[in-house]
Amino acid sequence: MKVLLIADLMGRPGRWATSQVLPDLKKERQIDLVIANVENAAGGFGLTKEIATKIYSYGVNVLTSGNHIWDRKDIYDYLNKDPNLLRPANYPPGNPGKGSVVYPLKDGTKIGVLNIQGRVFIKEIECPFRVANQEAEKLKQETSIIIVDMHAEATSEKMALGWYLDGKVSAVIGTHTHVQTVDETILPRGTAYITDAGMTGAHKSVIGIIKEDAITRFLTQVPNRFRIALEDIKFCGVLIDIDPDTSKALSIERIRLDLPPINQEMEGD
Ligand SMILES: [Fe+2]
Ligand SMILES: [Fe+2]
Repeated sequence: MKVLLIADLMGRPGRWATSQVLPDLKKERQIDLVIANVENAAGGFGLTKEIATKIYSYGVNVLTSGNHIWDRKDIYDYLNKDPNLLRPANYPPGNPGKGSVVYPLKDGTKIGVLNIQGRVFIKEIECPFRVANQEAEKLKQETSIIIVDMHAEATSEKMALGWYLDGKVSAVIGTHTHVQTVDETILPRGTAYITDAGMTGAHKSVIGIIKEDAITRFLTQVPNRFRIALEDIKFCGVLIDIDPDTSKALSIERIRLDLPPINQEMEGD
C-alpha cells in the first residue's frame, strides 16, 4: 500500500507544481493515499477554504499543517468543518480543529494520519511525545496503519520522536524546515523515517520566500513584506510502501522533481 506525503506546499508555485505532477504520479506509482502539508499554501501563510478545495481537486486526500495554520483567522471555522484537514494535535485544548483522522480507502483499508508539532525553537505547546503516544493509541482502536507528520524545527526532536514511535506507527515524516534531508530509513521495528520531506515550491529562494526579502529582514530586524519566490520550482515529498498485513513500512523513497517555469495564468499568491 502506497502513501505519498507532499512536503510543505508553498504558495502559488507549490499549488501549481502539485496540480501538474500529482495526477500522473498517482497513476504511475499506484498511490493509495495522498497527504499534503498545506500550512503555507495560501501565499506562504496559512490556508483558505478555497485553496483547500483546489488542493483536494488535484488528488490530495488528507491535509496536514503546522505553526502557520493559524495565520488566517477565517480558517478557524473551517478547521471544525473539514474532517480531513488537520492541525497539530498537541496545541492546547480550546483551539479549533483536530490533529488526527482515520481515512478509509475504497477497498475498506483504514489509514490513520496524525499531525504533531515540535516545541524546540517553535511554540511551547503540549508535549509532542506524550500527545503522539496518546493519539496513536486512540487511532490503533481503528487501524494500526498510522502516518505521522512531525512538524518541527529541531532535527534532534524529530529523530527522537521517530525512535520513540518506532514499531508503534508506520511512518514518522518530518516537515517545516522546507529543506529535504537525505536520511530516509526504515527503523528497526518497521517505522519509515525522514527528518524533513522538503518543500513543494520555488527553490531559488530562502525556504520559498524571495531571497532579497529574507535578507532584508535579517539585516533590518523589521517585519518587511515577504513575497513568494517563483523560480526553480520543485515538487518534493516522500513515498512510503506499507505492508497492510503487518502495518510496517517496506520502503521509503524521497521524491524531488524539477518543474518548468510557472504558468502565469495561475491566480493568487
Ligand atoms: Fe512550512
Ligand atoms: Fe511550519
